[in-house]
Amino acid sequence: KIYFSCVFFQNSKSAQGLVGLKNLGNTCFMNSILQCLSNTQSLRDYCLHNSHRRDLNNNSRTNTALMEEFAKLIQIMWTSTSSEAVSPSEFKTQIQRYAPRFVGYNQQDAQEFLRFLLDGLHNEVNRVTVRPRGTMEDFDHLPDEEKGKKMWSKYLEREDSKIVDVFVGQLKSSLTCSHCVLTHTLWFLSLFVCFKGYGEVSLMDCMRLFTKEDVLDGDEKPTCYRCKARRRCTKKFTIQKFPKILVLHLKRFSEARRTSKLSTFVNFPMKDLDLREFASENSTNAVYNLYAVSNHSGTTMGGHYTAYCRNPSSGEWYTFNDSRVTPMSSSQVRSSDAYVLFYELATSSRM
Ligand SMILES: *[C@@H]1O[C@H](CO)[C@@H](O)[C@H](O)[C@H]1NC(C)=O
Ligand SMILES: *[C@@H]1O[C@H](CO)[C@@H](O)[C@H](O)[C@H]1NC(C)=O
Ligand SMILES: *[C@@H]1O[C@H](CO)[C@@H](O)[C@H](O)[C@H]1NC(C)=O
Ligand SMILES: *[C@@H]1O[C@H](CO)[C@@H](O)[C@H](O)[C@H]1NC(C)=O
Repeated sequence: KIYFSCVFFQNSKSAQGLVGLKNLGNTCFMNSILQCLSNTQSLRDYCLHNSHRRDLNNNSRTNTALMEEFAKLIQIMWTSTSSEAVSPSEFKTQIQRYAPRFVGYNQQDAQEFLRFLLDGLHNEVNRVTVRPRGTMEDFDHLPDEEKGKKMWSKYLEREDSKIVDVFVGQLKSSLTCSHCVLTHTLWFLSLFVCFKGYGEVSLMDCMRLFTKEDVLDGDEKPTCYRCKARRRCTKKFTIQKFPKILVLHLKRFSEARRTSKLSTFVNFPMKDLDLREFASENSTNAVYNLYAVSNHSGTTMGGHYTAYCRNPSSGEWYTFNDSRVTPMSSSQVRSSDAYVLFYELATSSRM
């Protein structure tokens, strides 16, 4: 304890943001994610500079309290001169209002929480206040690259916020019908790449598994939109647009009732995660560095979440265990308990 307060004292000027969050009763899943987001520099600065105020949707139909409480919390975490842990209870009230599943004090899934939180924040600071009427434009005649750009700008006509700027990328899913020999290209956006590994695997293996060409046959045969018949198809994912922040969810819990946890050691790099081989087109800008991890230890029912984050100011790594914040060595970051990984595109990196 004395050691920790010493560290705080010495670093209070050079490295802020080292403020713990009180556990309100099984809220470590929330605290872990909040610390990862607090160390996401562009999102932190958006809150610290009050830029979110400009974007708040003031029409009476939209509640803006979630973004406001989130920003308030980040501001306290980065301006507090005391090492006293902060209570996120006002924030919790707002996330409960937005997503009633977080009412109460049950252990929750950190990755689901992150998804709901980003979605909620996005809705309150969406720069689009009146969404255009959905028209189905046909981009099929366009070359793939152009089609991708068109789909992206269509998306921005409806969903355009700081959250999108930072976290959203574009995946390309190509479906090739065996009959038409046409590539039916679907475009969609995803915050998460989810996968399941067996034994010890590398993150690159997981990515290769996720993006490998799949044959859809038998019961899985999709209906080709061209020939209107169910056909054997091949499906393949590539990344069309790389997000600034790439959040990777290492899928450790089985879909069915989440009773079993896979403790596969996923070997992931701290630096230079090079995803260029997954790009739809030659891309030079697809190298990522790790800056935060949500760690889940224990079993599904009785687990505990912590976060390891690299402080954007000092570059040092810290463990955030609810109200406790302690320095850690970067060599401890990689473990079989890593659950959600936060990577930052190297060119937008601060270091
Ligand atoms: C919403 O209100 C705030 C504070 O009253 C103001 O600063 C901001 O410009 C308004 N935002 C929009 C999008 O009108
Ligand atoms: C991508 O790069 C490879 C190797 O540098 C090159 O052979 C290929 O023609 C490039 N493709 C495109 C679409 O630019
Ligand atoms: C992450 O979780 C594991 C499993 O319980 C634990 O042993 C380890 O100490 C945690 N790491 C940190 C740095 O808190
Ligand atoms: C987190 O703090 C609790 C309570 O002090 C402690 O029992 C636990 O070992 C810590 N966990 C990690 C991973 O540091």
